Amino acid sequence: MANIIYKNMPDMNEGRKRVQKPNTIIYDYEPSEKLISKFKGKKVYISTYGCQANIRDEETILGILSTIDMERTLNPIEADIAILNTCAVRENAEDKVYGEIGEFKAIKAKNKELILMLCGCMVEQKHIIEFVLEKYPQVDVIFGTHNIHDLLKILDDFILKHKRYVDVSSKEGDIIENLPVTRIDNYKAFVNISYGCDKFCTYCIVPYTRGKERSRNIKDILKECKELVDSGYQEITLLGQNVDSYGKDLDDGTNFAILLEEVAKLGIPRLRFLTSYPSDFKDDVIDVIAKYDNIMKYIHLPIQSGSDSVLKRMGRRYTSEEYLALVDRIRAKIPNIALSTDIIVGFPNETYEEFLKTIEISRKVDYTSAFTFIYSPRKGTPAAKLVDNVTYEEKSKRFKELVDALAIDFNKHANEMVGKTYEVLVESVSKKNKEMLSGYPYNNKVVHFKGDESLIGKIVKVKITENHLYSLLGEIVNE
Ligand code: 5AD
Ligand code: SF4
Repeated sequence: MANIIYKNMPDMNEGRKRVQKPNTIIYDYEPSEKLISKFKGKKVYISTYGCQANIRDEETILGILSTIDMERTLNPIEADIAILNTCAVRENAEDKVYGEIGEFKAIKAKNKELILMLCGCMVEQKHIIEFVLEKYPQVDVIFGTHNIHDLLKILDDFILKHKRYVDVSSKEGDIIENLPVTRIDNYKAFVNISYGCDKFCTYCIVPYTRGKERSRNIKDILKECKELVDSGYQEITLLGQNVDSYGKDLDDGTNFAILLEEVAKLGIPRLRFLTSYPSDFKDDVIDVIAKYDNIMKYIHLPIQSGSDSVLKRMGRRYTSEEYLALVDRIRAKIPNIALSTDIIVGFPNETYEEFLKTIEISRKVDYTSAFTFIYSPRKGTPAAKLVDNVTYEEKSKRFKELVDALAIDFNKHANEMVGKTYEVLVESVSKKNKEMLSGYPYNNKVVHFKGDESLIGKIVKVKITENHLYSLLGEIVNE
């Protein structure tokens, strides 16, 4: 592979190391005249898979490219640069990316100058990079989650040398401040509070792809949030793989409760946070959520499994009893809290009895919504090495059983909403019916209602009229 420049290649063993304290680096890259003249007014297509961290990365990538005056296009055919921002959390996410890479064969045949770039979690894995380079000649550049801030340098290098280019480092990760950002929405925003994850749940690829957990300085987070409040944003979601351990690596005495309260005090109409880790969730956070009306009474609290033996094998650091006790403490102080969760069905060698525990506990917790997944082995993680005696067919059956059981509670909660009025943040025109708008109340349920497009980005009062289980129908009420 003489025609490939390997600037950095990832290594999962390197990615596992957690030694160095993170550095905060200020982004101040001045793009070269050459780069600006080549790409000024040209178009970038970006396709993002996976979680909110990737969506926020997309906004940074677009922000960086806007400094050389590139504009976004939603049509890959007219793009000068196309970027696939990938997800590695489950196999089906990766399969979709391979499908889209495949489509670029024909697109590049028509549009020969197009530069196709891959980034995101998938390419943090060496075996994937090798596979992609071998199988998909249409891919020109691969850069990692720790290399986004070098995007313009990478492009400069690529256009100079005209060779396929790989820059994926698996160092522990720094914090880059002052990165440009082009936000997708002008009313709701994601704000990173920490990067990476130190938990190493045995099924999960994230600690390898996103590096060591590192918290941003509180002043930088508050500055970003204040700017959003000042520009009229309605909703901020604080993002971290494990928001509850925010500040653990800083020496300034901050923690998530302090941060959450400081952000709430800035006066954003709605404040949310993602994702919580049960045994790191502290009672002072419950107090802050209870105290501020603008903190949505909604917590996403992944349980993953209801069986203590499976939780142990997953490396989750709590028992089902501890999880339930936390839920009780939350409900005691915030009775109207909506709880959602993540659940993995079919972890290697999960018995049917262990699976039933998940249903039993989920029903006890009484979730408003949940994200459910069939276990997907991720190469390089400890769980992927286990010999699994449960067939995929059996896992699919359990998955359906779980979905049906959870739906009973979802339905009950949705029924309870009918006839009541909620503040709804208007998101978009409904995909199915152009006269309808879609939005969501505090508990993130989708609500459809008649209204004018001009309401997008505003908070309106909607009376719920019908429950359709995974969505609700309503009508705007005027005060
Ligand atoms: N297989 C299935 N689901 C997974 N998740 C993470 N890794 C895997 C995997 N290997 C799920 C977890 C996590 C959510 C974001 O994705 O439930 O909370
Ligand atoms: Fe993955 Fe566990 Fe970290 Fe969540 S807490 S990102 S599931 S390792």
